[in-house]
Amino acid sequence: MELTNKCIMLTGASGGIGQAIAMLLSAKGVKLILVSRNKERLQQLKASLTRPEQHICLSADMTTEQGMEQISQLVHQYKQSGGVIDALINGAGSNEFQYFAQRSVSSLEQELRLNLLSPILLSQSALGWLQRPGIILNIGSAFGSIGYPGYASYCAAKAGIHRFSEALDREMDGANIRVLYLAPRATQTEMNNATVRSLNQQLGNKSDTPETVAQCVVDMLQKETASKWIGWPEKLFAKVNQLFPKLVSASIRKQQSVIQHFLNQES
Ligand SMILES: NC(=O)c1ccc[n+]([C@@H]2O[C@H](COP(=O)([O-])OP(=O)(O)OC[C@H]3O[C@@H](n4cnc5c(N)ncnc54)[C@H](OP(=O)(O)O)[C@@H]3O)[C@@H](O)[C@H]2O)c1
Repeated sequence: MELTNKCIMLTGASGGIGQAIAMLLSAKGVKLILVSRNKERLQQLKASLTRPEQHICLSADMTTEQGMEQISQLVHQYKQSGGVIDALINGAGSNEFQYFAQRSVSSLEQELRLNLLSPILLSQSALGWLQRPGIILNIGSAFGSIGYPGYASYCAAKAGIHRFSEALDREMDGANIRVLYLAPRATQTEMNNATVRSLNQQLGNKSDTPETVAQCVVDMLQKETASKWIGWPEKLFAKVNQLFPKLVSASIRKQQSVIQHFLNQES
């Protein structure tokens, strides 16, 4: 997709990766509909973008029916005023590094809603309002391909959004809508608290800047790349885990005492 003068809805816009995506896209002449809960952060972001006056902010909680309805209403008004939306980036997400047995039912529900159900529902609604040709880009995670201790429900949600993206892209073949999937590895944002950052450091896990992830998003939109995994060896592990999961289990078993040390700090 040629990005100049296109309009893109971006959820998770106030987050580390979302802000970096917004910066890059606005510099390329994209009009943005910026969605997240934190109104102030959205306004600050909007003011910092190229041509701030052309972007729209919407504060909505995507784990609630009301929040999803607010998005629908905004789209309706925007379209009634003659606007078109060319792409949707489902970037909102959250996780909790914790023993699965210690997670509350409500925290599991919230995590699955935000990372899986909301982007699925928003994608379904977008099929009704996206301009053709249009793009839906879902931001998953390396944990969508590799089940990892401390992240059981997050892995489930991201694996779900991966399969969903693949299935819908195939279903929309010939309908002028592409559904793309990006799997970043650890990225330097507020999503990872001090414990997780220490864990990654001790295990020697590499992490990327949000700008690196944002550049991948822009490249994928421009080239309409179906899916991409960021980082090496994460890319390789994703494939090995599909073919030889026992090898990955053995490798994670060697990390188990370190992982448990940090999980114990969170419990
Ligand atoms: N950071 C990583 O290591 C990493 C690695 C792989 C994949 N990812 C994925 O990358 C995406 C962006 O993550 P990030 O690293 O930029 O995290 P982040 O800095 O914590 O940003 C998360 C974004 O999601 C929004 N959000 C959270 N709860 C929401 C809710 N209930 N309703 C609406 N919006 C909500 C937040 O905004 P408000 O709080 O203002 O609502 C924020 O804009 C996520 O899908 C994440 O799973 C991240």
